[in-house]
Amino acid sequence: MVSVIAKAGYAARQGTRIAWYMGHYFAARRKQTPSLQASGKPIRPSSPVISRERMLGDMALLFRTDLRNVESGIYPMPDDDDGDLRKVLNRSRHFFRDLAGVDRRRREGNVRDGIDPGLKDTLPTYYLQNFHYQTGGYLTEESADLYDMQVEVLFSGSANAMRRQALVPLSSWIRGRDQRKLAMLDLACGTGRFLKFAKQAWPRLNVTGVDLSQAYLDEAQVHLAGRSACRFLHGNAEHISLADASQDIVTCIFLFHELPPRVRRTVAGEIARVLKPGGLFVFVDSLQFGDREGYDGLLEVFDAGFHEPYFESYVAEDLERLFTKKGLVHLETRPAFLSKVMSFERK
Ligand SMILES: C[S@@+](CC[C@H](N)C(=O)[O-])C[C@H]1O[C@@H](n2cnc3c(N)ncnc32)[C@H](O)[C@@H]1O
Repeated sequence: MVSVIAKAGYAARQGTRIAWYMGHYFAARRKQTPSLQASGKPIRPSSPVISRERMLGDMALLFRTDLRNVESGIYPMPDDDDGDLRKVLNRSRHFFRDLAGVDRRRREGNVRDGIDPGLKDTLPTYYLQNFHYQTGGYLTEESADLYDMQVEVLFSGSANAMRRQALVPLSSWIRGRDQRKLAMLDLACGTGRFLKFAKQAWPRLNVTGVDLSQAYLDEAQVHLAGRSACRFLHGNAEHISLADASQDIVTCIFLFHELPPRVRRTVAGEIARVLKPGGLFVFVDSLQFGDREGYDGLLEVFDAGFHEPYFESYVAEDLERLFTKKGLVHLETRPAFLSKVMSFERK
């Protein structure tokens, strides 16, 4: 039972977050070269771009669903963990200071700025880029510190709520099982935002976060500090250093749109390999063409002026086929605002 006061607290917190991050979004836009101009890409989406009113309505629906999930006991009242006021303000300053560099890279189309080419001996070439034109790519402490804010600004404060929708299929699957005996891998865990929500819901679950960025893993460790049964492995999703059939659950959030098509297939195979028979795979990533009425036009222009080199191929990828070919059985797909949640079971 969630009290009226708790619900009002949720509305106040999420409302403040939305206003804060949306405010940053519009302020940042004013300071930057218009994205369509910066990209140089002629933007003529074949369908109209969705209206702001409709998007705001769909975003409100996401938050209503989020609160309903709490009321239904699917997960506890979320703690977005943005840090104390000092941290929030410092990060905001850092965000605005960083904009000039982001804008310069966009105008110049420079996607390897400040990235040591020598790293290609240890990291895949597709990874050595300034995704989103962000400073340092995924490779620096500064980038890891700013990443969560940049994502929340992009999604006007709804990124965490979208991630939380992965807890819904997890909750149905875990119910009736002993969480202490379950192993869950969050592949490409980034700064650990999703792992934190999973541990809030199931504190005794054994979780492993894998990511190719040591800086992001270090940040994740800070977010998960003091939580038991958490470990982090630095490594490539193309060859996960975990044994075959060792995981009850694998989650993977916002990774696939950043992988070249060939690599998506390898990573899907790895997910199937480490899952136990009957194990659960939960996937969250951007909507794709045809997923949601009215969104195709937006998906066509989303990557303009926002370096997402594999997005165009991602939105057209048949994900159900991709995963089923690797031995996973599709259970369900649900839209969650600009993302979708897919669940699969290992045969
Ligand atoms: C868009 S971020 C998503 C991070 C996180 N899952 C989230 O919800 O924010 C993509 C993440 O994938 C990681 N990544 C990209 N390619 C990878 C690979 N081949 N193996 C492991 N991690 C990878 C990046 O370092 C980054 O942390």
